[in-house]
Amino acid sequence: MADDAAAPGKIPSGAPDPSELDHDALDRYVQRLYAAEDDQLRRVRARADEAEMPRIQLPPATARALQLLVRAVGARRVLEVGTLAGYSAIWIARVLPPGGKLVTIEIDPAHASVARRSVEQAGLADSVDVRVGDAAELLARLGPDGSFDAVFLDADKERYTTYMEEAARLLRPRGLLMADNAFWAGRVLDPDSDRLAGALNRFNERLSSDRRFDATILPVGDGLMVAVRR
Ligand SMILES: C[S@@+](CC[C@H](N)C(=O)[O-])C[C@H]1O[C@@H](n2cnc3c(N)ncnc32)[C@H](O)[C@@H]1O
Repeated sequence: MADDAAAPGKIPSGAPDPSELDHDALDRYVQRLYAAEDDQLRRVRARADEAEMPRIQLPPATARALQLLVRAVGARRVLEVGTLAGYSAIWIARVLPPGGKLVTIEIDPAHASVARRSVEQAGLADSVDVRVGDAAELLARLGPDGSFDAVFLDADKERYTTYMEEAARLLRPRGLLMADNAFWAGRVLDPDSDRLAGALNRFNERLSSDRRFDATILPVGDGLMVAVRR
């Protein structure tokens, strides 16, 4: 090949090396430009802290990516697995069209009640339906098939593959499946390092060869898996 720069894996001479990227700093850059939190979102974080919830909400840059994807597919009906205090639910609900609905599932009743307060105070109570229970059980009862435009997974990582099966059933053709923590802080590269690294690696591997989806992982935050239902 005459042009070295066109060879895969080669950096054109003079160009910076992307392997030196500081992802945390760049996430903060994206946050400043595109994902600034308003008072309501800051209040959700404060409320979650007051309730002594773990600080495991989406980072703003990831929430913004999720929100834009939901908007890009013109989603009217969205399903979220893992509500916590309602932080990501608010990002999603804000881009639903009039009459649109987010169903969000949370196993912990205390989390669900904080989330309900959050969505109410954000003026989104009509478009967010917080359901309490174990996701695997509630998902199995949800329907009809093909009735959701987007599904976002952000609960117990061991069961992402189970949730993926339900999502495959519930999504319409070209509906979006998304899941946070696809990188598990990089530990998916060493799947034996911990139980969840193994589970997430199996999930990523399964999706990569699942003929029902076209998928990839966006390197925002801890890795946002994005898949389109065929
Ligand atoms: C990472 S947090 C969700 C954060 C939220 N998506 C956000 O960004 O604001 C995960 C949540 O999933 C819930 N969860 C864990 N296992 C669950 C299950 N089997 N069914 C439903 N919810 C579950 C946890 O209680 C926790 O509130």
